[in-house]
Amino acid sequence: MTKILMVCLGNICRSPLAEGILKSKVNSTHFFIDSAGTSNFHDGDLPDSRSILIAKKYGIDITNQRSRPFKKNDFDVFDIIYVMDQSNYQNIINLARDEKDRKKVKLILSENASSKISEVPDPYYDSERGFDQVFKMLDEVCEIISIKLNDANK
Ligand code: 4NP
Repeated sequence: MTKILMVCLGNICRSPLAEGILKSKVNSTHFFIDSAGTSNFHDGDLPDSRSILIAKKYGIDITNQRSRPFKKNDFDVFDIIYVMDQSNYQNIINLARDEKDRKKVKLILSENASSKISEVPDPYYDSERGFDQVFKMLDEVCEIISIKLNDANK
């Protein structure tokens, strides 16, 4: 079982989408996907209504998710920790205890060699269009990740 954690700041906009999208593309028998925030700002909250809506538009239900903060123990549980932006990266790296922990942390868009940008922008203060763009970039990179994961599991 490969375990993957998606991380953003609030765990209500980007990482719940990343969790829902990747879950929709991989076999749940072999992969456990979860998400968390670097902050506890929204601990226990549903994903942002705009994330719920955009996911629903593309046939994905993320209303079972609740925000939770990242904890050090996540380094023991998860094999890969995908962060959305440089600030998330620094926050998680600051909690790493050793090189083994640090090696688990990756900017999610680094998996997409053709992406022109390296960070998934925070859509929280953006319009719905921002959420659509975030969905599309996460869908593209999660497709690449799922192919890689499914290949490694053959
Ligand atoms: P997320 O977006 O990190 O993609 O979940 C945010 C959600 C909430 C806040 C910031 C970003 N906030 O400051 O409350």
